[in-house]
This record gives sequence, C-alpha cells and structure tokens, in this order.
Amino acid sequence: MRRLLVAMAATALTLGVTGVPAQAAPAPGGPGLGDTYFPDYGNSGYDVGHYDIRLRYTPSTDKLTGTTTILATATQDLSRFNLDFVLDVSSIYVNNRPATFAREGDHELVVTPARTIADGGAMTVVVQYSGVPSTKVAAGFTAWTRTPDGALAIGEPEIAWWWFPSNDHPTDKATFDVSVSVPTGVEAISNGTMPRPPVQETLGYTRWSWRSLKPQATYLTFLTVGQYDITQDTTANGQTVYNAYSQLLSPEWRDGAQASVERTAEITDWESTLFGPWPFEARGGVVMPPGTVSFALETQTRPNFGASFFRRGANTSVVVHENAHQWFGDSVSVADWQHIWLNEGFASYAEWLWSEKNDEGTAQEIFDYLYATYPDDASIWTTAPADPGVAELFGDAVYDRGAMTLHQLRVAVGDDAFFEILRTWTAEHRYGNGTTAEFTALAEKISGQDLAALFQAWLYTPAKPVLASAAGKAK
Ligand code: ARG
Ligand code: ZN
Repeated sequence: MRRLLVAMAATALTLGVTGVPAQAAPAPGGPGLGDTYFPDYGNSGYDVGHYDIRLRYTPSTDKLTGTTTILATATQDLSRFNLDFVLDVSSIYVNNRPATFAREGDHELVVTPARTIADGGAMTVVVQYSGVPSTKVAAGFTAWTRTPDGALAIGEPEIAWWWFPSNDHPTDKATFDVSVSVPTGVEAISNGTMPRPPVQETLGYTRWSWRSLKPQATYLTFLTVGQYDITQDTTANGQTVYNAYSQLLSPEWRDGAQASVERTAEITDWESTLFGPWPFEARGGVVMPPGTVSFALETQTRPNFGASFFRRGANTSVVVHENAHQWFGDSVSVADWQHIWLNEGFASYAEWLWSEKNDEGTAQEIFDYLYATYPDDASIWTTAPADPGVAELFGDAVYDRGAMTLHQLRVAVGDDAFFEILRTWTAEHRYGNGTTAEFTALAEKISGQDLAALFQAWLYTPAKPVLASAAGKAK
C-alpha cells in the first residue's frame, strides 16, 4: 500500500506540460526494506515468487558451487536492484541477457540488468557462484557452521547470505526448490518433501532434491549436510514425516532425541486443535551433531534441534516449541523483526499449554513461578517485549514475558475468546505477516474488551507489571 502511494506521487510529479503523464523514470531498487532493527536486510523494487537453488557441496573442503535461479516481479520501473549474498559470483543473467554486478558493503550484491524491467514485469535472475562459506564474515560473524561430517545452514535472522542470493526479509516469502549434490553416503536435508529420491550422479556424488510448496521465509530455509540416520513415515492424513538424527549423537542422547522427535505427529496434531490446521505439506525434525549449533530453529516443515536439548533424555517441550512456530513465525511471520515476541512468546506459551495438558504444572503455576522468581532488575522487566532491541531479540522478555503477556490475555478474556483469538490470527495472516498492533487490535475485537492497559503494561513498558491482588489468577 505504501508503495502504491509513492508510485502515484511520483506520477503526479512527472506530469508533462501537455498534461499527459510522462513515463516515470526507471529507478534503482533500494538496498533494504526499512526494517526497524535491520534496515538493510532485504531489498526493495521487486518481489520474489520462487527460488530454484541447485548446488554441489564437498564437506572436506567446505566448497559450495552452483546456481540459484530467482523468479521475481518488479514492483517499480527498475533500472538496478540488490540481492543479499556473500559468496563469489561468476555470472548473472537477467531476462536472457548478461547483467553487470558489484559488491557493496558486507552482504549486498548490486545487479544492473542490460535492460530496465517495467513495473509488474517478470524477472528471471540466474546467479552462478562458488565459495567457501565458512570463510565469509558479514554483520561481524559467520552463520554457516562446518561440522565434523558436513555443514549446517541454520540461523536467525542471518543465514541465507552464506548459501543462496535472496531478498532476505520475512516479508518477501517464496516457494523453494533446493537440490544439493554431496559425496555419496552423505545426507543433504532441507525443507518440505522430496520430488524425487536421491539420485547417484557421476564421480561419487549423490543429488538430494527438496521442495517447499508453501510460501517460505529465507531464514526458515535450511540445509543440513552430514551423516544422518533417517526415519520416514506418513501421518494418518497422508503427510510425510521425515526425521534425521546425526550419527555423531551418543546412544544416550540419540535415545532422548528419538523419544522426543518421533512424537512430532502426535504433538502437531494436538497443536492443530489449539492453533488451527497444520499449515504445511510435511512434518518432521532434524537433530544436529553435538558441539555444533546449540539452539533449535523452526525451519519450515522440519525444525532443527541442537543435540544438547536431549542431554538429559527426552525433551518434548522443545518439539512443542519449534512446531508451534510453524503457525507463529513460519506461516504468520513478523512484518518487522521488532515484532519477534509474536514468534517466541507464542511458541513459549505453547510449552506452558503442553505442561498443563500433561499435568506437569498449569500455565498459571508457571506464570506465578516466573513472576516471583525473576529478580526485579532482570532484563525480562527492563525490556519491553514489543521493542526488545537487537541485543535482546532472543532475550527473556521476548520468550518468557511474551508468554506471560499471553497468559494475562487469557485470564482477562477467558479460554473461549483466547483460543478464538489465536485461531483467527493464524487464519487471517496465514502464509503472510503480522505486527503487534494487528494482534492487539484483533484481541480487542474478538473479546470486545478494552485491553489497552494490559498490553501497555505487559508489552510496551520496560518495567515489571503490577498485578492487582486478586487479578492474574485463572478462573
Ligand atoms: N527461533 C529460535 C527458537 O526459539 C531461536 C534462535 C536463536 N538464534 C540464535 N542465534 N541464538 O526457537
Ligand atoms: Zn522459538
């Protein structure tokens, strides 16, 4: 909408003396989308519909080579545009002709096509590249992780830069084909389903192909390469369940991992009774090698789990959390990274609901415990969940206070309205984006209550909210 107004203003300014609108001059796309925390992530001037990523990867050298073909649409008369990428580019074609390109800053690739693309016009961008991702530093670090037997492209918000050129912001989702050739005997796992089984190519390489049919954010697109044990099955409604366990897990951790991740279908069936229909075409999980990526990530259709989540045996909470993100984060994504509590607060609250369902403590008991236990000067109280800043993007205010906010909302509006709010949210923003203001407006609309004071205290104020003596207790 904002883009449309800008375009109209530009047209008005270029009215010629004859009164006939002159053609707006083609202009370069911008190097960012104006995200509050990450203004130069993503690019303006075009919208991606599909990525076709076709790579070869060799674990012993960490060499990645290949081609990404981007199908996009110009959203202005476009003379030039940016991609976010750090590997070494050898050639770019745009709409059948070679384009020139240059690097700018640490992750921008500026592409000048031979011909301007008209507003609304189709763009086919073919980028050929190679590189050793672990040697590339951008935004002060390297998100690509080498492992003893392969590599992990798992990160949030930064990860795409190290393996495919993109419009790297969750507001520009696309479908994906990811096809990676690795030495035969090594597994290469990504999102969605396999349009064909792995095929042996020449010279000892095997190609693995994966496809995501639903809109997917760039940071939720993953690549996991190494030695994995695979389990494959189908759910009662015919969806593929595809799980992978690093062969580097000790038998003890492996048992805990399997006793958790093999419950994905059951857990997501339960979550769909709360949040609405499962949004995607496949389910599953991947457990990474110990001592590599330590966090878990809600990679679309198939979360990746740090091995140490299973160091004390089974951990179903983390499976509940990452799969709750499939609704809150993956299907409904943040419109701006500032709204990250819409992901983490909701996935954390799903863990509380799981605890409640299993008679391991009610949500109210967890709320009371956290409210009483965090010291008064802890970051959970000094940070506003609705504006945590980059340093606290994944801090306690976002996770725990975010979940506490949802619990206060549930107490205020009652269970029926609360779960109706959640299901309406996932339905209205399915495969799209959302903001905090949109969520709080929806909560007020469905409950018919003025919730301004509740949200002001819990989301917007960097101080510990005061509980009225009898309030904050579930009815
Ligand atoms: N979204 C992930 C999760 O909660 C967290 C990722 C944290 N990222 C990081 N670099 N530590 O489940
Ligand atoms: Zn999370």
